[in-house]
Amino acid sequence: MSSKSALAEVEFPLTNSLEAHWMPFTGNRDFKQKPRLVTRSEGIYCWDQNGDRVIDGSSALFCCPAGHGRKEIADAVHKQLMENDYVAPFQLGHPTSFALAQTIADLHPEPLNRVFFTNSGSESVDTALKIAMAYHRARGEGQRIRFVSRERAYHGVNIGGVSLSGINKNRAAFAASIPHVALMRHTWLEENRMTRGEPEHGAELAEDLERICQTYGPENIAACFVEPVAGSTGTLIPPKGYLKRLREICDQHGILLVFDEVITGFGRLGAPFASQKFDVVPDIVTMAKALTNGAIPMGAVAVRDEIYETITDSGAENAIELFHGYTYSAHPAACAAGLKAQEIYAREGLFERAAELAPYFEDAVFSLKDHPMVFDLRVIGLMSGIELHHDGVPGRRGQQVQKDLFWNGCHVKFTGDCAIVTPAFIAERAHVDEIIDKIRKTLDQHV
Ligand SMILES: Cc1ncc(COP(=O)(O)O)c(C=O)c1O
Repeated sequence: MSSKSALAEVEFPLTNSLEAHWMPFTGNRDFKQKPRLVTRSEGIYCWDQNGDRVIDGSSALFCCPAGHGRKEIADAVHKQLMENDYVAPFQLGHPTSFALAQTIADLHPEPLNRVFFTNSGSESVDTALKIAMAYHRARGEGQRIRFVSRERAYHGVNIGGVSLSGINKNRAAFAASIPHVALMRHTWLEENRMTRGEPEHGAELAEDLERICQTYGPENIAACFVEPVAGSTGTLIPPKGYLKRLREICDQHGILLVFDEVITGFGRLGAPFASQKFDVVPDIVTMAKALTNGAIPMGAVAVRDEIYETITDSGAENAIELFHGYTYSAHPAACAAGLKAQEIYAREGLFERAAELAPYFEDAVFSLKDHPMVFDLRVIGLMSGIELHHDGVPGRRGQQVQKDLFWNGCHVKFTGDCAIVTPAFIAERAHVDEIIDKIRKTLDQHV
């Protein structure tokens, strides 16, 4: 069936063709045979092209903790656009960006007080790479050009982030990535399979960083990037003591520790950021997604005072200090959406609410423990990985289950054979039950 005729069946009012849009991270040919279009979203639900209700089990793509369709955010964006729609961000400013930067800084522990704005998680990661390089250069250690990342890492899709990637499919076709990146081992261990909470085994995996230092010389390494909880690969929770050990090794060798919190930031772990959850303060934090509750694209990078000051003090007086920035850095509409989203999170106590719901959520996910399709379960805060046994071809079953689940009325983001269930923080227990029931019924169809 051509995609044109597939579309005709769904009475999509805007166009007769799906061909022009080359969709991201999507099997375009497969999708266009039987499209899954979302035409409306509200709260924890969305509706497909047939008018059927679909519960959102992944806060869309980990973006909407306050639920969809928050009128207050739309109103704030509308007001901002009518008052001051766009301001050139180089050499000019506008009040909303300073207010949002302060709000974000206040969510982080000291001394993470300086915030650089981007438009996505990928841009945040590439910005962090450049800040790390500029910082060492300003300190007279410009030889630090190596980076450390981890197997199974996802750091977005720009060339910097792809170079840090530990997911084969995300880098295989793109040979021209940046050199000098060494990967630590990932933190999934068989001994921790099906265990609850932070894994007991594996803190010693942090010693991989020390081994890389010994191989390449620690004085040549600029930064170590980790997702505190590896998200896109399917929620890999750090073993107890692992992040603290990374911090120690970085401190010992003058290496910057970067937490990529594009998924974990803004309450997903039941604390504002991973630094509070794990009691480890990084040097740089990358953010995006829930910053604006998904309403407007936006990312941010928070850095320690000392990093900001070292770079800004190194420039000639009155000169530009960091030759970096985006045309849409701190776009007024995005700042307005971000400020309103943060206000809602605080007013409704959503991070606390996520922490309160977390034990119930964990029990609900672990109710799938004995399902014959389930290989592993991992839960922290309102973030989980439900990993299925593969069917011989890794990823094939996951893709089919994801599609069937949607037609059974539940959207969940899958990576390979792992469902990444991350409900909105406004979810009630009944919503958690509905998501898990729909997953169970869909898995039953595949036994
Ligand atoms: C840890 C992490 N870093 C970076 C990114 C890239 O963010 P974006 O898709 O907004 O570019 C993601 C996206 O899922 C992510 O999970």
